[in-house]
Amino acid sequence: MRVLVTGGAGYIGSHTLVELLADGHEALVVDNLSNGFQEALNRAKQLSNKHFGFIDCDIRDAVSLGKAFAAFKPDAVLHFAGLKAVGESVEKPLAYYDNNVGGTLSLLRAMDAHGCQRIVFSSSATVYGTPHYLPLDEAHPLEPVNPYGQTKLMVETMLRDWAGDGRKACALRYFNPVGAHESGRMGEDPRGIPNNLMPYVAQVAIGRRDALNVFGNDYDTRDGTGERDYIHITDLAHAHLASLRALDDLADFEALNIGTGAGTTVKELVDAYAQAAGREIKCYYVGPRAGDVASTIACPKQAQAKLDWTARLNIDDASRASWHWQSQNPEGYGE
Ligand code: NAD
Ligand code: UFG
Repeated sequence: MRVLVTGGAGYIGSHTLVELLADGHEALVVDNLSNGFQEALNRAKQLSNKHFGFIDCDIRDAVSLGKAFAAFKPDAVLHFAGLKAVGESVEKPLAYYDNNVGGTLSLLRAMDAHGCQRIVFSSSATVYGTPHYLPLDEAHPLEPVNPYGQTKLMVETMLRDWAGDGRKACALRYFNPVGAHESGRMGEDPRGIPNNLMPYVAQVAIGRRDALNVFGNDYDTRDGTGERDYIHITDLAHAHLASLRALDDLADFEALNIGTGAGTTVKELVDAYAQAAGREIKCYYVGPRAGDVASTIACPKQAQAKLDWTARLNIDDASRASWHWQSQNPEGYGE
């Protein structure tokens, strides 16, 4: 397939790009580099040893996007581009509605104008809000608790309405993506202080930060720390390939959980990382972070059945891969 990849210079997009090229697809990346890296694209090219196009543009720029569609004539779109920081979305909600909802609207208009009828969208487990039960299945109520989550739900709604008449949309609800490419050449490189656990732990391990603040140790979990379903970035990338393959046989709109079905606590992740790095991870136990829940765990059965996909890697694999990346690239992509 000819696949247009929005946000392909970002963390998940760049890793998926490499797997996409390895699977024999052609790709055009559209990214405004607001949170992505030119160097990630350079490395994707080296690792895949394949050529792909890149257009530095905002998906809300209808003219440039239209030119990209006209020139490349994609069969499908992998749509990663968007803003993703929960706290920032509370401070700047309109920036999130503009980028995530407005950006997707612009993208769907371009797809319609150029007869492109397949899209796989990066949704998030955050659309469920506070869990009523675990594991979270796709029938769980959709009750996002912050503007970021609202934008993901609004895009899913838009895709549901857009799909039909030959148009196919699949929203992948990622749980917690972690890890890095096995080569150690690509990984996650957050700008500023990492919001997420594994990149923070990685920066403690490499000595860029003194210690991890563990947000809460009195939750109703095995050891009192928060529990999440961490999905290895390589498994996540493969879920996108599986979606592209399955899309024509799926319902017009599908929303599928992408997780492992197993939870890991903060303490367990820290232990796994310390083992992988052969270093101690200093921790301070502080109060819970506002808005956090004790546990989120996916029920991935629908994705397994409908995509013929299953997660194969675990938290030890992800910790080793992340450390391989972080230790070889202490300053990330260095941009
Ligand atoms: P990322 O920030 O690393 O990648 C997003 C990419 O999109 C960046 O390269 C950025 O420059 C680009 N971008 C943003 N707005 C754009 C615009 N208007 N036009 C063109 N390019 C634009 O984030 P990521 O972790 O790779 O996440 C990818 C997608 O997955 C996002 O939609 C995110 O909401 C979703 N998601 C991420 C997580 C996670 O924990 N990383 C979890 C669930 C869902
Ligand atoms: N945590 C710490 N210290 C840190 C960072 C995180 O103890 O410095 C803990 C959190 O309290 C939580 C766990 O580590 O228990 C995981 O936290 P993350 O921030 O890595 O992940 P979240 O599950 O909180 O958030 C993720 C995505 C969001 C998404 C949310 C719900 O980052 O985009 O899942 O799906 F909205």
